[in-house]
Amino acid sequence: MTGKLLLVFLPLLPFTHAALKIASALSVIEWTPEKIAKEDFYNGSVTISNGGVPNLFSDTTIDLASNAETQALRNYASHKNLRIIYTVSEVAYRIVADKKKVPTLADLKGKKIGAVPGTSSAYFVQQMLESPVTSGGVGAKKGDYTVVTGNQCTADPCASGTLPAMLKAGTVDAVGFWEPTVELAARAIGSENAVFYQNFTVYREIFNLHTTAEKLADKAKRAEIVEFVRALEKALQVFRDSPDKVYKRAADAVGMKEELMKAVWPVHKWTGTLPADLLSVLVQEDNYVAGLDRRSAMSESVLKGLIDGSVLEEARAGL
Ligand SMILES: *[C@@H]1O[C@H](CO)[C@@H](O)[C@H](O)[C@H]1NC(C)=O
Ligand SMILES: *[C@@H]1O[C@H](CO)[C@@H](O)[C@H](O)[C@H]1NC(C)=O
Repeated sequence: MTGKLLLVFLPLLPFTHAALKIASALSVIEWTPEKIAKEDFYNGSVTISNGGVPNLFSDTTIDLASNAETQALRNYASHKNLRIIYTVSEVAYRIVADKKKVPTLADLKGKKIGAVPGTSSAYFVQQMLESPVTSGGVGAKKGDYTVVTGNQCTADPCASGTLPAMLKAGTVDAVGFWEPTVELAARAIGSENAVFYQNFTVYREIFNLHTTAEKLADKAKRAEIVEFVRALEKALQVFRDSPDKVYKRAADAVGMKEELMKAVWPVHKWTGTLPADLLSVLVQEDNYVAGLDRRSAMSESVLKGLIDGSVLEEARAGL
């Protein structure tokens, strides 16, 4: 009887999806492929609100969240159900300085460097300064340089208290941050006077899409997540191959001028993958994050549980 009823009613059930809910840092360039995925490639309904990984735990109606790897580590320590399922972008952050004051990477020693403690920018500065010379760093020790905090800036004119204004005023000698703050800092001192230091192998931000083990265990929700990753794959292909089609929309999404977006575009790799070395990057970086959060570092076998490649596999298998 029940079986018959199902046979009768199943075809009549409307094929509805609950809306997919995403929390994402809406002020950073790295979130913009999600917007294009939503508007151009995702057939279901999706809402994207300002936030990040912590929202997955403060509001269980949130299905997906995006952030840099630093926030994943901070949250995974107390939420072992967190999962990284996709890498949207990899960004070799840049340090900018006046080339007369800091003519070589080694001259960063003894300098005041603008960055924000507790974020990927401070970790980036530490990696560049404290990595051995043979590994592409300055080979400095803590105390050989000073980190000075400041605000980001996404459009000229950058107010006092922002890192570009501080570089211009000489409050800091260099700025190590994400874009477009670094580009605007270069322009603040005159781009012709600026020198940039970056090294993808010393540090690159890995900006990921996250969910929870519970969401992945829910069959219907998982199917929506796989669909959204497929949409992101298509969006990222446009970001890589035909950026002219999205500069303006990406710029509008973060309140930047299109010209500035074009200038900083090459700093971002729109990879759309899970990098092969993701686990080893997380293991190394957790030593730093653990110190900040006053806990012991997580082992490689624990951190392995943070990465789940099965969604990406499923998304690609269905294409
Ligand atoms: C989305 O809908 C359009 C139009 O109905 C259809 O052509 C396309 O194949 C659908 N895409 C996916 C991924 O289901
Ligand atoms: C970047 O770092 C790697 C080692 O991590 C080093 O071999 C390479 O020379 C560095 N590149 C630059 C431009 O300094």
